[in-house]
Amino acid sequence: MSRSRSRKLSRREFLQRTGRSGLAGFALTAGSGALLRGQSAVAQDAGDGVREIRLEARQALWELAPGKRLKAMTYNGQVPGPELRLQEGERVRVVLTNALSEPTTLHWHGVDVPNAMDGVPGLTQKPVAPGETFVYEFEARPAGTRWYHTHFASATQLDLGLYAPLIIEPAQPDPFPFDREYTLVLDDWVTGSGAALPRTAEGTARAQGRMGGMMGRGMGGMMERMMGRGGMMGGMMMGGSRTPAYDTMTINGKAYPATEPLLVRQGERVRLRLINASADHTHIVRLSGHRLQVTHTDGNPLAQPVDVDAVPITPSERYDVQFVADRPGAWLLTCAEPGHAHAGEQVRVDYEGYEHASPAAPEGALSDLQVWRYGLGQGRQLLPSPSGQTHTFDLILSGGMMGSDVWTINGQQYPEVDPLRLRQGDLARVRFRNHSMEAHPMHLHGQSFRVLAINGRSLAQPLVKDSVDVEAHMGAVEVEFIASNPGDWLFHCHKPMHMEGGMMTLAQIH
Ligand code: C2O
Ligand code: CU
Repeated sequence: MSRSRSRKLSRREFLQRTGRSGLAGFALTAGSGALLRGQSAVAQDAGDGVREIRLEARQALWELAPGKRLKAMTYNGQVPGPELRLQEGERVRVVLTNALSEPTTLHWHGVDVPNAMDGVPGLTQKPVAPGETFVYEFEARPAGTRWYHTHFASATQLDLGLYAPLIIEPAQPDPFPFDREYTLVLDDWVTGSGAALPRTAEGTARAQGRMGGMMGRGMGGMMERMMGRGGMMGGMMMGGSRTPAYDTMTINGKAYPATEPLLVRQGERVRLRLINASADHTHIVRLSGHRLQVTHTDGNPLAQPVDVDAVPITPSERYDVQFVADRPGAWLLTCAEPGHAHAGEQVRVDYEGYEHASPAAPEGALSDLQVWRYGLGQGRQLLPSPSGQTHTFDLILSGGMMGSDVWTINGQQYPEVDPLRLRQGDLARVRFRNHSMEAHPMHLHGQSFRVLAINGRSLAQPLVKDSVDVEAHMGAVEVEFIASNPGDWLFHCHKPMHMEGGMMTLAQIH
């Protein structure tokens, strides 16, 4: 972590080093460089070589920006919750106390935990009742940008702030070294103040100038004409009547100008770990004056970095990107979705000495930018080899018609589903087809998958991910995974409204 070539330590590095040399022998940092509030209370060595972390889920008043306060749900009083930094392979014990007035659980998104630690209420554990404590224990793997969040009543709890970064540092040297890093967690909020933002129901497809899916522009245009974009009818058809009106966008729990500036020094290679914790919105991240190099998808390294101008991120996805700090000045990292930057999704990126300069906003229309898409990346061979049978599953995603809150997989609503039945070592091919008018970020618990094909086009070197955006309007995605982690694992859309509407199934590995 302390990779700065410069002589003077940054505040964060200083804290990390002092943290390391302390009795506890580890560092725990907050996303944007601040010392974690109540750090000593959060983590300590339990005496048996296991790192023990204490998290309390509790309500707290949270200020998104001056004057914009709401009753949030927090881990340890902050949004996002404390960033956990673990070493790959390290054993960790997380003691969760529920100080909310409703049940909750913790899910370790992108971490290959034992099934009983997966945090799915009614499936892998009983919900943790108010006043109760639950102890999670697992080995931290695989390395990369992961996150943790509630898995109970997500449409309320995830939306109100129960999420945080979980960074697992690789045991082997990182293939893409850097001098400085920041973690940025993106989120959408309903505060009731300010205008409702246009929905991003088309997901990442829109960033590439497409309506989405195999029907492409023609169909999209037709739909738009039929329904009126963003109008009453459109809103109902596209989104379901209950989708809340998001009006504020945050980076690390704050809306611009309350976001904490990212300080860089000329010559540094800077890594940004981007996590989309939003319930509904896709974001398109760009940085004025700089190109971004995508190095990791959902925490997993690519074969080589991919240079782009902007990176679309669907809910629950993570991207690690890097840039070289070679243009001294004050810049802005922003979201290119219409209205998002104005609604708070901006953060200053200041070169040392430019902290008081006025920052330059990004230039150029989205249509002129080179935007990341899955087909640009080449993954590495990170998953185990299959030793059993191959099974193919066709999963049709649909629902949301005429404003309904029902979302289905093969016409079924969880928990009334036909599970994907697998034996350990089997290879599961899953072919998603989206018959609905919204994109669905599909996430598998317990192990990662390879993305084999998007809209009928094969990827030469499949990406390793745990969430994948299946485009609206007949979008098609094919993934495969090795059934390596025994247990009952959810495979679901990560938009809480869709999860709760039934768009979840199970991979049963025995
Ligand atoms: Cu982020 Cu079911 O998970
Ligand atoms: Cu969905």
